Amino acid sequence: MTVAPRTDIGLTSDSIVWTRRHLLALQDLTPQEIVAVLDTARALKEVSTRSIKKVPALRGKVVVNLFFEDSTRTRTSFRLSAQRMSADIVDFSVSTSSVSKGETLRDTARNLEAMGIDAIVIRHRSSGAAETLSRLVQCSVINAGDGSHEHPTQGLLDLFTIREIFQAQGRKIADLHVAIVGDVAHSRVARSNLWALTKLGARVTLVGPTTLCPNQFADLGVAVSHDLDSVLPHVDVINLLRVQFERLTSAAFPSLREYNRFFGMDEARLQKCRPDVLILHPGPMNRGLEISTPVADGPRSAILHQVTNGLAVRMAVLYLCIGASGDNARGPQNTATVHSEESTRL
Ligand code: CP
Repeated sequence: MTVAPRTDIGLTSDSIVWTRRHLLALQDLTPQEIVAVLDTARALKEVSTRSIKKVPALRGKVVVNLFFEDSTRTRTSFRLSAQRMSADIVDFSVSTSSVSKGETLRDTARNLEAMGIDAIVIRHRSSGAAETLSRLVQCSVINAGDGSHEHPTQGLLDLFTIREIFQAQGRKIADLHVAIVGDVAHSRVARSNLWALTKLGARVTLVGPTTLCPNQFADLGVAVSHDLDSVLPHVDVINLLRVQFERLTSAAFPSLREYNRFFGMDEARLQKCRPDVLILHPGPMNRGLEISTPVADGPRSAILHQVTNGLAVRMAVLYLCIGASGDNARGPQNTATVHSEESTRL
């Protein structure tokens, strides 16, 4: 379906095709689809700078936040994104719902859907939960993080932030070398970043102890290193991952002190980097472990910038999945041609 340009929300010129009802994993997306989200987000970012931060693009649509794991950034920004697009948003609280009485994910989702919703944003501890849900319901399903599998909107907002900052210097993602550092094994953020970055041509090096960054990741077309200090001088972006203590089943390193000594990003290590290196972290941070406070709050850090951009990216994802094609979100496939300020320029 072709959608008329929406000049009120900055979507104006060149055509971008979007044919997905769900956003489950960046591994599934083509480079053109990834750029479609980034371009749409770029147009929508302006909405949040207006005095009245609201556009009618999703008026009449209903989005449910279905979070089975805790969240600050993702949950809040999906809520604000839906509100800025004039959708109704329901924050489903698992702890006070009938899930606590043993109701299944399937029954929970189908009961919510029976109330006439357009999208479920799901976070779940199990890898594959979002995809499973997408087979059970007719509405759109957006993965807000499933186990250690993927966190696609985090990957997209990281990419958006990288592109925005380096484009201002006349550089493309395909020219960049990105290090993803830390607990790669348990990180859905690492996997989503890995797919998105490599699809757009970036060079990626995963760095961490062998227990948290196994060499098998090299099979996915990235480099693997266990020596952070040797990687630092060669990268443009360092994306630091949280050590996910809640997912560790055994001691992955001898002590916190030792982890910090070999893989913690501090000012001394920053001195080894290129002067324009960009520091990212998806949050929440273990300050003093994977990142020091001076680095987290310092001039090379784009961590709060990532959070700001998360809103624009989630507005774009909601718009593309349930809004761009008009009223077909319950059909078998959401086929839309979105008119954006940008073409599919990588
Ligand atoms: N980055 C991220 O997913 O943060 P939250 O867990 O707070 O949503």
